[in-house]
Amino acid sequence: MFKIKTPDTSHLKYEEFESVYDPAEDSFLLLDALEQELPLIHTLNPLIVVEVGCGSGVISSALSTCLPAAIVLSTDLNPAACRATQVTAAANKVQVQVVRTDILSTLSDRLRGQVDLLVCNPPYVATEDTEISGTGLPASWAGGNLGLVITRRVVESLREVLSEHGIAYLVLEQCNKPETYIPEMEELGFDCSTVISRRAGRELLYIVKLSRRKR
Ligand SMILES: C[S@@+](CC[C@H](N)C(=O)[O-])C[C@H]1O[C@@H](n2cnc3c(N)ncnc32)[C@H](O)[C@@H]1O
Repeated sequence: MFKIKTPDTSHLKYEEFESVYDPAEDSFLLLDALEQELPLIHTLNPLIVVEVGCGSGVISSALSTCLPAAIVLSTDLNPAACRATQVTAAANKVQVQVVRTDILSTLSDRLRGQVDLLVCNPPYVATEDTEISGTGLPASWAGGNLGLVITRRVVESLREVLSEHGIAYLVLEQCNKPETYIPEMEELGFDCSTVISRRAGRELLYIVKLSRRKR
């Protein structure tokens, strides 16, 4: 049985990281799903692993620990999150390459068809679209219409960057209406399945796995 040890993020108490998302139930559910999926992930022998919206870096560092031969690339819009991810990686003695960018916008050309594993715990709370602005803490949760504005953009990028056998894991919440959004992702050419779901207070969280539909 493969295990994922939760990385040390004790430095997040430092004032400079006040605007960084603290790992919460959604982050831990994603880690649990990745732990459950590790046997499959190992069979892919992933070389390029990407996390979009790395926040504290807890997920990226866990992935780098489990997949030491992979290049782990992490992006976030929030400059403090990018620094926190670098500190988390150093504290946990792993390599993570951090790029401050919007989703994958400065990387997608170079990553076209190259990403073997992509994970994302996006801002998924349903808000007014106008709340999606800035690069501070609200960018961690404000997801606009149906909480899907950022998720839809991540899925669009996936169509470009995912390798032939690549897989992706996304966090969805019930306000995202998974029952209608999953068929939409299938229409875009992905096979989708729910790996785990869990209630966390008022939220009902899902981890959904995507891969390119085989012809
Ligand atoms: C819910 S937090 C998840 C943080 C971390 N991955 C975790 O699971 O604990 C979402 C993260 O996405 C980042 N984010 C929001 N919009 C983004 C965008 N357009 N491009 C890149 N990162 C973004 C936020 O700054 C935040 O760090």
